[in-house]
Amino acid sequence: MLTIQPAKRIQGETQVPGDKSISHRAVMFGALAEGTTHISGFLQGADCLSTIDCFSRMGVVIAREGDRVTVHGKGWFGLQEPDQKLDVGNSGTTIRLMSGILATQPFHCVVEGDESIAKRPMRRVVGPLREMGAKIDGRKNGEFTPLSIRGGDLKGITYTSPVASAQIKSAILLAGLQAEGTTTVEEPSVSRDHTERMLRAFGVQVTQSGKSVSVQGGQKLIGREISVPGDISSAAFLIAAVMMLPESELLIKNVGINPTRTGIIDVVRAMGGTIELRNERVVNEEPVADIYVAHTKLHGTVIEGDLIPRLIDEIPVIAVMATQAVGETIIRDAAELKVKETDRIATVASQLGKFGAKVQPTDDGMIITGECDLHGADINSMGDHRIGMAMAIAGLASQGETIVRQAEAIDVSFPGFATLLASICQR
Ligand code: S3P
Repeated sequence: MLTIQPAKRIQGETQVPGDKSISHRAVMFGALAEGTTHISGFLQGADCLSTIDCFSRMGVVIAREGDRVTVHGKGWFGLQEPDQKLDVGNSGTTIRLMSGILATQPFHCVVEGDESIAKRPMRRVVGPLREMGAKIDGRKNGEFTPLSIRGGDLKGITYTSPVASAQIKSAILLAGLQAEGTTTVEEPSVSRDHTERMLRAFGVQVTQSGKSVSVQGGQKLIGREISVPGDISSAAFLIAAVMMLPESELLIKNVGINPTRTGIIDVVRAMGGTIELRNERVVNEEPVADIYVAHTKLHGTVIEGDLIPRLIDEIPVIAVMATQAVGETIIRDAAELKVKETDRIATVASQLGKFGAKVQPTDDGMIITGECDLHGADINSMGDHRIGMAMAIAGLASQGETIVRQAEAIDVSFPGFATLLASICQR
């Protein structure tokens, strides 16, 4: 349980933990590479630790000291059949990307996770991987975990994904690296491209054109050093807090600003907020900057279309931020929210509603009516890290105390969240 007292303002300079998407990929690609991969800035959150655990169970030696991880790569076909089930915990990225890798391996294994994972759709990756030749089964004809996977002898496909999802795209491209011929994935909107960038950093050729990405089969990865920048999805909670609390300003150092992830910056600007990128640079093919934010009275906006995949994980906290903007904020084209760690349309509406916020859930998003006085509430993360943190931010801008139940879920992506918040809040 986490107790949040209202804050007067936020001031100072800080850093957020490493990017979750990049940390997962660094461990997976390091395991498959030839040679050693040294990772710094690794996110020590529960999800990324699940990835380390799964690859360790397949015989990869992975040493971790704080945020420094050394992965002793075994080469693509050096993985061993695990003697037990692989447990991905709460991590959708682990199960979906790893399924793509397991689809290429000449052994059998069973993969499962927690109660939330058991409800999340898997056929979106199982379907195309079966089409490539992998033998995969699961409850409801492969829709749900546990998944049983026996890989090997794949052929390249051209897959048109019905949803913009980096997890689907990555699973297919990873399988494509050991399939016969070319594998291409086309998406309705471009999803995060960390897989494409990091594969290139590991020496793989990846071709991108518009909304389509291709790889040739039979490519090798070569181990290297990876420095993981701070996660913009974690920085988003702090950015929202600054926009909600008058006289606040904050410098968040060393944050990834990959254009497929910076929808939050575009939205803050569209709402009239002050946000600047400083000290821009490129590290391991990924753009990085320090983000400066200063409180500004925001106005409502419309968030839709190609912008949605660029801020999909930030929508819960954007909804919280919108409660303090002038006018309405409309979020649409975001039905994917329903299949995240919780149904985030329902959980945002129910939990943010407890603060007195005006949130109307819709089929593919929500409408938030702004300039609403929030009062402290007793809320539940429902086991969803981003719901827990978004509601904690609502608590900072509320009258009275807020209690966040099941707050341990926050460790999935932002260990040390409460301590970091306390260090920048003035009361
Ligand atoms: C992720 C992709 C996104 C995102 C998740 C991490 C990734 O999911 O919500 O937190 O690392 O590839 P989808 O690709 O399913 O939208």
